[in-house]
Amino acid sequence: MEKYNVPEISEGVFWVGVKDWNRRTFDALMPLPHGTSYNAYLVKGKEKTALIDTVNPEFKSELTEKINQVTDLADLGYIVMNHAEPDHAGAISHIMEASKKAVLLTTEKGARTVQLYYRVPGERTKTIKDGDTIELGGKTLRFIEAPFLHWPETMFTYLVENKVLFSCDFFGAHTAFGLYDEDVEEIIPFAKRYFGEIMMPFRAMGMKAIEKIKGLEIKVIAPSHGPVYKAPERILEAYGKWTSGETRGKAIVLYVSMLGSTEAMIKTMVETLFSEDIEVSLYSLPGADIGEIAKDFVDSRAIVLGMPTMLGGMHPLAGYATYLLKAFRPPLKYCVILSSHGFGGGAIQQALEIFGHIKIEVTGTLDINGPPTTDDHQKIAEIGKQLSYKMKGLKR
Ligand code: FEO
Repeated sequence: MEKYNVPEISEGVFWVGVKDWNRRTFDALMPLPHGTSYNAYLVKGKEKTALIDTVNPEFKSELTEKINQVTDLADLGYIVMNHAEPDHAGAISHIMEASKKAVLLTTEKGARTVQLYYRVPGERTKTIKDGDTIELGGKTLRFIEAPFLHWPETMFTYLVENKVLFSCDFFGAHTAFGLYDEDVEEIIPFAKRYFGEIMMPFRAMGMKAIEKIKGLEIKVIAPSHGPVYKAPERILEAYGKWTSGETRGKAIVLYVSMLGSTEAMIKTMVETLFSEDIEVSLYSLPGADIGEIAKDFVDSRAIVLGMPTMLGGMHPLAGYATYLLKAFRPPLKYCVILSSHGFGGGAIQQALEIFGHIKIEVTGTLDINGPPTTDDHQKIAEIGKQLSYKMKGLKR
């Protein structure tokens, strides 16, 4: 028995990636509760073999052994770099060292990035352009430039004969579980979380990329994180919605409360939204999983932010949440801000300054002193109703 399982995901296409079961954060920010995978693929033609992406550098030996189980690494013809980030390109130098004949194929921007990060000699790099093809012998690789998914140099590779799309980060999911989509009971929530964390800021570029691949017959999508899609229709449909910013009648509620007053305000708001048939995703910010928040940002129509004033401004956790909101650029349309202060406000004003730079309509704010009174609860219910009418596209 060979040391590693190297499955053939399509005729002449082998998965030589690795599972990183123990990785717990990405970009020192996103929690990875189920680890992740770095998928690399070997495409064997009659004359040449191409490696599609590599793996995080700590796994370079495992990648080497897997390639050698299929073919002699020294005979590798091409390394296709769809993306230069180290989780996919970090083992390129090692592979090129072991495979002296291999030529690196990448976009013009990718060629500059490999020089910077991996010191690949220019003479071993071939710059490709949108629509270029490479023949491997009975297998044709076609390259599709798809910039900013996730860095400026990104591209897709399409294996014409097999109808396999190697999409790198796009369509990915951070989970080490499963080789195929059918192995994971519910893959879409993983993919949605990943989209929220990584792709949401680049929705416009994602839409362009989807437009570009519309005419392609795609039997398999082979991304660089998570399972391979043998039934790509579902993820293509989901990405169509997510990249276009389609929202649901859902409000994401993020709050932090120090003495219970803000929490009491939030409870009234949530009850009001429920009574108006608005779906609510509620997160108490201390200890909340940023990845889950990012997932709910993907299709929420409104946000309710609740926080006390602390030292003249927003509670730092609320400040962090608004920073993420600005960075992730979700398709939110409406916002309500609720706050309680003890001996001097300032939180709402600071939040409004930040929201002023985001295309989002603030439909209501309330700042109170101490715990909410009956009158305050009534005002919150009114603000909640107003928000729900806006979300439903109704006038009052
Ligand atoms: Fe999976 Fe942008 O790297």
